[in-house]
Amino acid sequence: MRTRWFSALAALSLAALAACDSAPRDAAAPAPGTPAPPSDTILIGEYGSLTGSEATFGQSTDNGIQLAVEEINKAGGVKDKKLVVKVYDDQGKTQEAGNAVMRLITQDKAVAILGEVASSLSLAGGRVAQQNNVPMISPSSTNVTVTEIGDMIFRVCFTDDFQAYAVATFASETLKAKKVAVLYDQGSAYSKGLKDEFGKTFSGSGGSVATEQAYKAGDADFSAQLTAIRDTKPDAIFIPGYYTDVANIAVQAKKLGISAPLLGGDGWDSAELPKIAGAAVEGAYYSNHYAVEEPRAEVQAFVAAYSAKFGTAPDGLAAMGYDAAKILADAMKRAPDLSGGALAKAIGETKDYAGVTGRISIDGKRNASKPAVIVQMKGGKPTFVTQVYPAGVTPPTAVTTDAAAPAAGAAPADAATPPAPAK
Ligand code: PHE
Repeated sequence: MRTRWFSALAALSLAALAACDSAPRDAAAPAPGTPAPPSDTILIGEYGSLTGSEATFGQSTDNGIQLAVEEINKAGGVKDKKLVVKVYDDQGKTQEAGNAVMRLITQDKAVAILGEVASSLSLAGGRVAQQNNVPMISPSSTNVTVTEIGDMIFRVCFTDDFQAYAVATFASETLKAKKVAVLYDQGSAYSKGLKDEFGKTFSGSGGSVATEQAYKAGDADFSAQLTAIRDTKPDAIFIPGYYTDVANIAVQAKKLGISAPLLGGDGWDSAELPKIAGAAVEGAYYSNHYAVEEPRAEVQAFVAAYSAKFGTAPDGLAAMGYDAAKILADAMKRAPDLSGGALAKAIGETKDYAGVTGRISIDGKRNASKPAVIVQMKGGKPTFVTQVYPAGVTPPTAVTTDAAAPAAGAAPADAATPPAPAK
């Protein structure tokens, strides 16, 4: 009796739902068990911040994915089908990120998901993908915990324990900094993780963290934190945040007469940073996934194709989006079928893929172990300074192949021992 009432109610609410949705999709949904009609396309889902204060993250990633998919389809697609990408704008909001992934899986029947950029949003969307057994590749979420969600969640970028090592080593060995102040976003998994990892490495190499000050994304006034930082007379200031906040912080730091070099991570990577901050970020350093000047063949081909299509040089996000989409397609080709399990297995078997952002092998924890670059803002543009390699990843030597020569002026891997390959 109870079951019946339940079904009747469920049927009623389904009817109500269908009435709200004008798309014919629901009405035409096949009965359970009916095989899906053959289709000449494969749908991939994407979610990202196409609007909001991190809008360039989503836009650049989307451009990179578009370019990759265009090339894949031109070369014959995957399993004789064309790839189609359905993208949702999560506006940089956690709740929207979870909803977007749910929609991609349940409504759009995506076989795999690309995204997100911001670690907090990959954590939100990744949980939904994992629960539904649909593989997700984050192009650029670096927080260590993202791929710990489960066996469906992968990334093609390095992790923040390594990124923090790269910045901390650069600060101590190249800038000879002894005392660094940190200003981080307390609501961001990425920012907190990077702050913690930086503190460990920098203190471990004999330096000290003079003060840790916190802000919230979107704050307008950073003067209390910056004054406290100025009082400690730091040799450098590490700001593991995203570009809009970082730009505002840099401008206010300058106004307060702070001249210590500013340091950051990949979250600074946006053309908006110098646009908003102007001279306040000139000379600052941050770590990133690649630099447009790298002479490797993969980089130069990508930069040329991207610039021709979008009329602007690709940032790190665009390169990561491109690599993520190409790696997904490569795995789809190798997988015997596109079920979640088969596809996840194939993604996990990615080995030595020659990506724009370096050689990509997925390890047992579904992470990639790759070098980071340090860039410096010069004339309003990020400019290559050096490359840092994780343990176990050998820097290419100039003699081996033409594509592997390090950039002019590239320093060899730092003398200090890097952490074990990304967890
Ligand atoms: N790594 C950042 C995060 O995990 C996202 C990011 C990647 C931002 C690359 C800019 C460039 O949140």
